[in-house]
Amino acid sequence: MVISMKLIVINGVNLNRTGMREKGVYGTQTLAEINAEIEAYAKERGMEIDFFQSNLEGELCTVLQQAGENGYDGVILNAGAFTHYSYAIRDAIASVDVPVVEVHMSNVHKREEFRHTSVISEVCKGTILGFGKASYLLAVESFRL
Ligand code: DQA
Repeated sequence: MVISMKLIVINGVNLNRTGMREKGVYGTQTLAEINAEIEAYAKERGMEIDFFQSNLEGELCTVLQQAGENGYDGVILNAGAFTHYSYAIRDAIASVDVPVVEVHMSNVHKREEFRHTSVISEVCKGTILGFGKASYLLAVESFRL
């Protein structure tokens, strides 16, 4: 199949604990298991997809900064708690032309007040939240429309 688009899924702080932490909120599947499903979903649709996770804010900024030069047509970003206060990640997104779709597995608006604010939404192409792992699949889909 011809690869039409190359995406990267970037997961931020604590997302490596998916499947082990707050299972009632984030489910029981590990990030590796979820990533395998996202990869299969993207491949079925002729898209190439890579994955990156870090608990370090600066590392996430570097990967965002380099998304264009590394050949990515789009970024799917779950910044975790950094979403709510990281102006550094916000500026990294704003510094590149590659479209970034913000993703959250949980419906952050149903949760604690501090999660209701996203400092990155304004510089993202769009936001998908509240659908569990399917939030990532819907984000992949958004790049096909
Ligand atoms: C999250 C929501 C954030 O508030 C939280 O800090 C996370 C995960 C989500 O996917 O629902 O780590 O981004």
